[in-house]
Amino acid sequence: MIKSVKQIAKKILPQSVVDGLIELKKEKVKLGDLSKIELIRNKNVQYLSNPKLLETELLLELGLNNELLVEFPEELYGYCGKGLLHWQYPKQFSKYLAQISTFNIETYLEIGVRHGGTFVITVEYLEKFHHIKKAIGVDLGTCPTIIEYKKINHVVDFIQQDSQTKEFKNLINNSSTFDLVLIDGAHEENMCKNDFETVKGKANIAVFHDITSDACPGVGNVWNYVKNTYPDEYQFFEFTEQYDSVRKRTSNVYLGIGMAVKNDFLKRISQ
Ligand SMILES: C[S@@+](CC[C@H](N)C(=O)[O-])C[C@H]1O[C@@H](n2cnc3c(N)ncnc32)[C@H](O)[C@@H]1O
Repeated sequence: MIKSVKQIAKKILPQSVVDGLIELKKEKVKLGDLSKIELIRNKNVQYLSNPKLLETELLLELGLNNELLVEFPEELYGYCGKGLLHWQYPKQFSKYLAQISTFNIETYLEIGVRHGGTFVITVEYLEKFHHIKKAIGVDLGTCPTIIEYKKINHVVDFIQQDSQTKEFKNLINNSSTFDLVLIDGAHEENMCKNDFETVKGKANIAVFHDITSDACPGVGNVWNYVKNTYPDEYQFFEFTEQYDSVRKRTSNVYLGIGMAVKNDFLKRISQ
């Protein structure tokens, strides 16, 4: 008998996550507070290169998502549902940002932007280190934050499209290479893998969000597949640190960033 995704989810996920995911479907995409970008613009590169300051100050002040609060530590609830609503653990995102700041990134693509928080922060952050020439956000739904942001940052674009379609594959095939691609759209294993296959030839760096999440184990499976299939093509980095309070409360692990950097890109930027 073929089971629906809902039935499978109910069997394998903690009830609190299933409830959260159901709520998520009802939630509307919000317009983030773009005035927060000044917090990044006002910092110098020395500050921005320090993961501890990013984790404990800047990424909190920029404002976190609050749609699946069960995944977030209670001590950060005061920052959730505010600002740019980025859907990241500051413990992980801080170290990831500090790492990508060293790669001279000029072009960025994010598949699955939700409220656009991670997208805006990544673009603004990288711009402090190296000029960004093109940044595209893609989502099934609309994204008012990026649509507004586009008015003040003309290298930015937002495309409302299903990444699983032939149209999206054609768009990627016909575009030039992206230095950095964040895959954070559909979290089912086959769809996440499909996103990777779509961008693989055009991404100098492919990043997966939720590689350690008990809420979406399919992403972790894709990450392991990439590491096992292309050990000679990429250098792999993982940012998966957890919050003790979440672990104690839920016995689960969440989010997690996996980054695969092409060896030839690393060679080129180090020359
Ligand atoms: C977890 S949220 C992204 C969070 C965002 N990257 C952040 O860090 O703030 C996942 C997003 O992926 C989008 N999505 C899901 N399936 C998709 C698909 N097939 N194509 C494009 N976007 C998709 C959803 O609409 C949702 O906004």
